[in-house]
Amino acid sequence: MSVLKIAVQKSGRLNEESIELLKNCGIHIDNGKDQLKASATNFPMDVLYLRNGDIPQYVEDGVADIAIVGENLLVEAGNDIEVVRKLGFSKCKLSLAVPKDLDYEGLQYFDGKRIATSYPNTLQAFLDKNQVKADIHVIKGSVEIAPNIGLAEGICDLVSSGSTLFKNGLKETDLILTSEAVLVKSKKLTQEQEELLSTLLFRLDAVQKGKK
Ligand code: PRP
Ligand code: MG
Repeated sequence: MSVLKIAVQKSGRLNEESIELLKNCGIHIDNGKDQLKASATNFPMDVLYLRNGDIPQYVEDGVADIAIVGENLLVEAGNDIEVVRKLGFSKCKLSLAVPKDLDYEGLQYFDGKRIATSYPNTLQAFLDKNQVKADIHVIKGSVEIAPNIGLAEGICDLVSSGSTLFKNGLKETDLILTSEAVLVKSKKLTQEQEELLSTLLFRLDAVQKGKK
């Protein structure tokens, strides 16, 4: 029998709401936290708990059939996969920020400066479009620390509540993109899996409608 493999974030901001969404769709998952693969008890579905950054590639390769990920990650990774639904949670922005006391007058400020980020491709495309030439320094996490330790003059990172920026004495200057959680699918689904996905989408749409 055919099974739909869904990849969700193992830990982090998307994890809980992703599981909650499946639950609201009537899908029961026995969830030992350390178990990286779990099966639904009442729907032909396997849940794979994966590192955020690995998910787009797994979906492209068809290792996972569908997944819940942040749009921002898709833009950065540029994989050949399809967004089937926007999910309306985990909304955030990808923005540029600088030390809060700086007299910031516009993007030209970044010309010749160093910018720390975990999103080099998205940032480079934005800078190119605006004809700014900056040095991009890739850091995997805690990006907001960079200006304080002399690693960069500015940063480009996700902003949700704004509290990380605030706590690190930074202010947002320019919005690069807005993002939310999305449901994506591989281009390698079988006919049977497409049918399972349709069932899931039918339930999902009902849940989303109920929320409005
Ligand atoms: C994320 C992101 C920002 C912060 C934004 O970091 O990289 O730093 O959250 O959220 P806020 O505006 O509500 O403060 P995360 O906490 O996931 O840690 P990491 O960057 O070290 O992975
Ligand atoms: Mg962070």
